[in-house]
Amino acid sequence: MNKPTKGIILAGGNGSRLYPLTYGVSKQLLPVYDKPMIHYPVSLMLQAGIRDILIIVSNADYIPMFKKSPIKANAKISFVVQEAPLGLAHAFILSEEFIKGHNVCLMLGDNIFHGANFDSILKINTTNHIYGVKVKNPSDYGVMKFDNDECLVEIVEKPKEFVSDYAVPGLYFFDGTVSDRAKRVKPSARGELEIVDVINSYIEENKMLYNFLENVIWFDCGTHDHLLAAGNYVQAVQQRSTQIIGDVMI
Ligand code: DAU
Repeated sequence: MNKPTKGIILAGGNGSRLYPLTYGVSKQLLPVYDKPMIHYPVSLMLQAGIRDILIIVSNADYIPMFKKSPIKANAKISFVVQEAPLGLAHAFILSEEFIKGHNVCLMLGDNIFHGANFDSILKINTTNHIYGVKVKNPSDYGVMKFDNDECLVEIVEKPKEFVSDYAVPGLYFFDGTVSDRAKRVKPSARGELEIVDVINSYIEENKMLYNFLENVIWFDCGTHDHLLAAGNYVQAVQQRSTQIIGDVMI
């Protein structure tokens, strides 16, 4: 087993697709029904057994606000500021000292997952590992591309032409070479160091495992509609069952 003990949550970015909601506050502190968004990825890390967590934020002023959020878990949580939104892969350069060659889990701070067997999926994760989720709008995400033998050959970021229905959600497991790989990535046309380029470097070397997440509900809360849908989902589950989604007391 190569289970990571360290986790990084990307909670930077401008949140511009959520303007004007995010003019004065970090996107990942916005409420998703009854908790700040950041509780959901923190909870997932805890479910995966990860208790050394680095949260990447866009502004030092947000750090006290994150600290005020009632995360009472038995975890070590530290923060680093990303001065500009240079891309998801930039996280691995910023956190090189934190990773120190260990296996690491990266979660996007605006992604929420929920599913009956998700706990067990997390507990058996191996490095290097990504997931695929069948979606109706693949062009909004990084998408899995397969060859004729249905083998994964590449992840394509927000493809303009159809590649497959399988989006790659914001939950990734990597080995300790990830910072060096990120340093070799060149900025994309939109000026970002893309996570898909890091993943593709592993795929090229046949070092990336993948699974399809079935019966798992996944939200990327990056737009008003998805933020509202996620909140409504959490409300429905919590009102109609004894489950708490995004529990940080575990
Ligand atoms: O949600 C899954 C998708 O997330 C993946 O399928 C894509 O491959 C991946 O690129 C990403 O796409 P998005 O366009 O949704 O990424 P977004 O810019 O919204 O950033 C995701 C999170 O990372 C969000 O919480 C903000 C944070 N972020 C983003 C950037 C660009 C940072 O902390 N720093 C950054 O530089």
